Amino acid sequence: MGKVYIVGAGPGKKELLTLKAYELIKKADVILYDELIGDVVELLNQSKAKLLNVGKRSGKHRMSQEEINNLLVKFSKEYDVVVRLKGGDPFVFGRGGEEAEYLLKNGVDFEVVPGVTSAIAVPAVAGIPVTHRRYDPAFVVITGRESRRRLNWEALAKLNATIVVLMGVGKMREICSRLIENGKDPETPAALIEKGFTKEQRVFRGKLKNIAEISEKENVQPPAVLVIGEVAELSLVRG
Ligand SMILES: C[S@@+](CC[C@H](N)C(=O)[O-])C[C@H]1O[C@@H](n2cnc3c(N)ncnc32)[C@H](O)[C@@H]1O
Repeated sequence: MGKVYIVGAGPGKKELLTLKAYELIKKADVILYDELIGDVVELLNQSKAKLLNVGKRSGKHRMSQEEINNLLVKFSKEYDVVVRLKGGDPFVFGRGGEEAEYLLKNGVDFEVVPGVTSAIAVPAVAGIPVTHRRYDPAFVVITGRESRRRLNWEALAKLNATIVVLMGVGKMREICSRLIENGKDPETPAALIEKGFTKEQRVFRGKLKNIAEISEKENVQPPAVLVIGEVAELSLVRG
């Protein structure tokens, strides 16, 4: 039996891989990876491993989660080092939890290798610290996907926390208006960072009341991170 490593690839820049992730990519026998962005992909091409793109884009699913789970179990019987590579951190909206559960249930040896999450790193690349002592004392990371329906929007709007939205591009209008309807100040600063850490990176700034409009006007495409909160007015970068 081999071992499965559920590995975070960071936000799209190879320098931001952990050393452990880097070593595992080098020594892997097989790598199952999601749709990754940035120069991390170059490292994959240098690896001796068999490469399998199991990335799922919303709308056109390449492989179901069930199929991926089954492949992980199958490969653990065929190879020594199986790497399951995911953007950011595998346990932050990355389905790493579901895969770990499945491996545990099936008696497969596995390990989770955390990665640098886009929820923190992408705001940072635009000079936005998700926490700053002068501003809100907490930050919350939410998804723009289906599970947002289970959110307590009233509580979220009232919480004095910076809100970081992943996978929110297609749902920005709904997310922003829900927050405003539930009492969040429409003048709250907001920033949207598209394709952070890549050559195509773009950063847009506005307010909660108009950031969705800016996004549509500028035709922002995923992946992008939306930051809502006073910290979004900061731009702590030089040059
Ligand atoms: C399926 S979630 C996975 C998050 C990942 N596990 C993490 O910890 O960063 C994908 C979302 O992460 C965000 N994202 C990841 N990398 C990004 C990048 N380089 N620039 C902007 N957004 C990014 C986007 O919101 C995207 O829709």
